[in-house]
Amino acid sequence: GKVVVLLGGDSAEREISLRSGEAVIKGLKKMGIDAQAFDPKEQDLSQLKSKNITRVWNALHGRGGEDGRIQAALEFMGIQYTGSGVLGSAIAMDKWRSKMIWKAMGLPVADHVLVSEEFTVNEQSIRSIIAKLGPVVFVKPSHEGSSVGMSKASNVGELCRAIETARQYDSEVLVESFINGKEYTVAILNNTALPSISMVTPREFYDYEAKYQSSETEYFCPSGLSDEQESILGELALNAFAALGCSGWGRVDFIFDNNNQQFKLLEANTVPGMTESSLVPKAALHKGLSFEALTLEILKTSL
Ligand code: DAL
Ligand code: MG
Repeated sequence: GKVVVLLGGDSAEREISLRSGEAVIKGLKKMGIDAQAFDPKEQDLSQLKSKNITRVWNALHGRGGEDGRIQAALEFMGIQYTGSGVLGSAIAMDKWRSKMIWKAMGLPVADHVLVSEEFTVNEQSIRSIIAKLGPVVFVKPSHEGSSVGMSKASNVGELCRAIETARQYDSEVLVESFINGKEYTVAILNNTALPSISMVTPREFYDYEAKYQSSETEYFCPSGLSDEQESILGELALNAFAALGCSGWGRVDFIFDNNNQQFKLLEANTVPGMTESSLVPKAALHKGLSFEALTLEILKTSL
C-alpha cells in the first residue's frame, strides 16, 4: 500500500526534517514503495485517515514530531508509524529527564544542573552553577535537537548569555560540565548497534553549522576504537536506548571523557537525521546497507 512520509512540521528543526523526508521518499521509491510527502504544518493530520493511509514513515525532527505527540495522534487514528512509541519519544526528547533515568541506572552522564523557568539569573545564582559544574559548561535547551540554541560558556557573563539564548527555545535549560574529549555516535536498528562513528570538527563543538553546513567536519566510520571499546559503546547505546523506552531505530550520542577514560551519554534521538550526509546512513553503509535499503528497514519497524 501507500506510505506517507511525515516531514517538515513546525519545530526549530523543520528545515532538516524537510531534507530528511525528501531523501527518505527518494530512497523508498528506489525500493519500489509508493511514498508521498505529508507536512503536518501545511496539511491537517486527520486527512491521513480520509486518504486511507495505514502506515507512516516519520521523518519529523524535534518537538511535535519526535516527542510523542504525533505518535499519540497516529495511535488514536490506528495508523502504524516508524520508530519509538509515545513514552520513549517523549522521554528521549527531554534531555534532563533522560539523564535522570540513566544516572539512576548507573549509566555514565556528565554532571548537570537544570535551569527551570523559576530560576533567576543573577551573579550569585550563576556562580553557584559554576561552583557545582566547573568554569566551562555547555548550555542547551532541554527539548531541542541539532544543537539549536546551544552554546559553550567559560565565565559568568557568557553563562548568563548562554542561558538567555537557550531560554528562547525552551523553558527548561540544561547546563552540563564541559567534557574534554571526542564525540561518538551509535546508530541503532532493530535492537542492533551499528558501527560507531566519530565526528571531528575544527569548530568549538559539533554544532548546527558543523552538522549541516560545514565542509570541514570529518566523520570516521569505523571510528578507530578497539574491538573491546566498540562493543562496550554498542552495549551502552542499546542499554541507554531501551532504558528510555525507545525502540525500532534511533541514535545515541556520546563523548569520550579524556579525564577518566570513559564514555559519557549525551542524549538519544528517536528520529535521527536522514539527510544524505547524516550519521545513521553512514553507519548503515558501513554494514553494507545502502541508503535506500535502510529506508525500507526502518519502514519495517512500523510493523
Ligand atoms: N536531531 C537531528 C536531526 C539528529 O539527531 O540527527
Ligand atoms: Mg538530538
